[in-house]
Amino acid sequence: MEDLKSQIDIDKLPKHIAVIMDGNGRWAKAQGKPRVFGHRHGVKAVREVTEAAAEVGIRYLTLYAFSTENWNRPTLEVTTLMRLLVDTISKEVKTLNKNNIRLRTIGDLSRLPNATRKALLKGMEDTKDNTRMDLILALNYSGRWDIVNAVKQVAGAVKAGDMSIENIDETSFKAALSTREFPDPELMIRTSGETRLSNFLLWELSYAEFQFLPIFWPDFQKAHLYNSILNFQNKERRFGMISEQLLGR
Ligand code: IPE
Ligand code: IPE
Ligand code: MG
Repeated sequence: MEDLKSQIDIDKLPKHIAVIMDGNGRWAKAQGKPRVFGHRHGVKAVREVTEAAAEVGIRYLTLYAFSTENWNRPTLEVTTLMRLLVDTISKEVKTLNKNNIRLRTIGDLSRLPNATRKALLKGMEDTKDNTRMDLILALNYSGRWDIVNAVKQVAGAVKAGDMSIENIDETSFKAALSTREFPDPELMIRTSGETRLSNFLLWELSYAEFQFLPIFWPDFQKAHLYNSILNFQNKERRFGMISEQLLGR
């Protein structure tokens, strides 16, 4: 693994990596265990990806932890996930501080149970001065929700006379998204073999490289992140141009 890590070109790191942590339920089912068993083991993988990203020098890491669609799951699973969040955050704040990692969130926290929201707010407050990496949890998040929210804000500003229609562009629109303080992710990783976006960062991923890993989330290890970064570094990102144009730059 050290070998993989040493192959990474630290001058060509993605600034922001986004991860769809998928496959907890299937991981548990494969062992004849209830789905929530998979979620509990998923926490270990969260630690792996966070440590690996910080060690290699990634500045922003966004993890999809709960989508707006996930409310449709069985009540027991939803409440377990919410409780797991409280427990994990309360336990991990010390480690985040030790490693200079700042906890942040995107998504509508107002619909979360009080205890979950409080734990999150406290975790964010307690880590707000950390500067090495931002760990961004997407919670009760969906890309469409964020875009609609941004449209409302922009429309409100125009209506109030604080903004003109001519001033609506990609930059001012991005400023209304919940991801406004973060650069767009250059790399998106999804585990579990599914190859869909499931309403994640629809605006922000428009030019990201996608990597779909055939493993379930609880099996995710540091080496998977290093390998994904290495694959990313071997891609030619053309942004609409042709190869020859890039070589001249
Ligand atoms: C991802 O694993 C965790 C969350 C969505 C919270 P899943 O729970 O979706 O696991 P699978 O996809 O059903 O195996
Ligand atoms: C996406 O996974 C959401 C999270 C990882 C939090 P899902 O398992 O909910 O996605 P679908 O339903 O299979 O598309
Ligand atoms: Mg899933």
